[in-house]
Amino acid sequence: MDSVNDVLGLTSDYAVQFLESLEERPVGVQASIDELRAALGGPLPEHGLDDAQVVAELIEAAEPGIMAMPSGRFFGFVIGGALPAAVAADWLTSVWDQNAGLMGPTPSAGVVEEVALEWLREVMQLPEGISAGFVNGCQMAHMTALAAARHRILERAGWDLGRDGLHGGPRIRVIVGEERHVTVDRALRYLGIGTAQIEAVPADEQGRMRVALLPAVLAAGDAPTIVCAQLGNVNTGSCDDVAAVADALEGSDAWLHVDGAFGLWAAASPRLRHLVAGLERADSWATDAHKWLNVPYDSGMAFCADPEAHRAAMSVQASYLEQVDPGAARDPIDWNPEFSRRARGFPIYAAVRALGREGIVAMVERSCRHASRFARLLGAEPAVEILNDVVLNQVLVRFGDDDERTKATVAAVQADGTCWLSGTVWQGKAAMRISVSNWRTTDEDVERSAGAILAAAASTVGSVAS
Ligand SMILES: Cc1ncc(COP(=O)(O)O)c(C=O)c1O
Repeated sequence: MDSVNDVLGLTSDYAVQFLESLEERPVGVQASIDELRAALGGPLPEHGLDDAQVVAELIEAAEPGIMAMPSGRFFGFVIGGALPAAVAADWLTSVWDQNAGLMGPTPSAGVVEEVALEWLREVMQLPEGISAGFVNGCQMAHMTALAAARHRILERAGWDLGRDGLHGGPRIRVIVGEERHVTVDRALRYLGIGTAQIEAVPADEQGRMRVALLPAVLAAGDAPTIVCAQLGNVNTGSCDDVAAVADALEGSDAWLHVDGAFGLWAAASPRLRHLVAGLERADSWATDAHKWLNVPYDSGMAFCADPEAHRAAMSVQASYLEQVDPGAARDPIDWNPEFSRRARGFPIYAAVRALGREGIVAMVERSCRHASRFARLLGAEPAVEILNDVVLNQVLVRFGDDDERTKATVAAVQADGTCWLSGTVWQGKAAMRISVSNWRTTDEDVERSAGAILAAAASTVGSVAS
């Protein structure tokens, strides 16, 4: 066991040191791709090495190329940090190494999913009796939920998808908001639904579906229909009016799916809940744990108000599997697309226990407060414009009303290393995106980062040809 002691001891010491260094280390990466290739590459090793040496050398070679994504000053994309209890539970997930598809052989992995499903349902105030699949992220949650949707709407049209497949079956329509996330289209593509079947309802200046236009789009066809609404636009954080979408679908057979990758977590907060009003009227919901719940990558959930369709779309049977009676317990394999799979429930369970409902609400509200503070600190400068209504944790910033200056400012911030964020294009204009989703972010992180952003913006004056 010496080797196990050495390698796990070394890893644990390094992990603590890495996490403690987040406060001061530059957030961006410190090595080029070529430097990393040189450090990590080489010929296929003919002989094995001592475990501790492998890990020590991996740390040394890889660390310069590690983005400090768990830092409280990482504001790129929409990236949560990782709560200590969730990281530890994630380590245990590897140590226990459960192939967590079946309740019988891996009952602790199965039970934590059951428990986490109920806790999360309650936190987000979703209807009782929903089912859940624990997947690797929101895109796969879309795929899982939309597979259930496809199954149900085709069945209503008299088509047995499980037996006859898609070919020769009824055409499916999918109605989305113009500013939906790209992963909705990607998940649909995986399900055999192409762009010609996707109809986009125009969006307003915040990226919200113009729901007043939805009835006309609905009325323009009569094929089996899925409608996708969004809570939390990836750029602006804006939320579609799900209650109005549900009203528009009243009396129709359309399936309502909600992309709540991060916006669904607003449901936990009494202060923010109005943004997601009506979400309980949807048929399915997709969200992430690796964003606002601050569980390490990768982790997402699909929830479904039609467990029968969900199970029919996902389940599998084989004589050698030890499957439970579905009436008595829940085999995870029946609710997600993977066959073999990681026991994803442990870190989610640990995160919810470490935070409690109170902690989840505080974390979500704190992120939003930090985002508003960014908007105030940056927007107070004359040449800085905040492009969005900061309703959640996303801020879009533009400098000198100029694309080149804005891009140069993003590049200068990334090079400076105080914080990290990225650029985007919002309604034809270059913008800097700031996303606050990490439990670690403090008021001081926001102040330091806002200062670094303004200094970067000042450094671009005169250096960019407008
Ligand atoms: C609104 C929205 N939907 C879906 C996704 C995809 O999530 P994931 O990367 O976990 O698959 C994202 C990711 O940022 C998102 O913001």
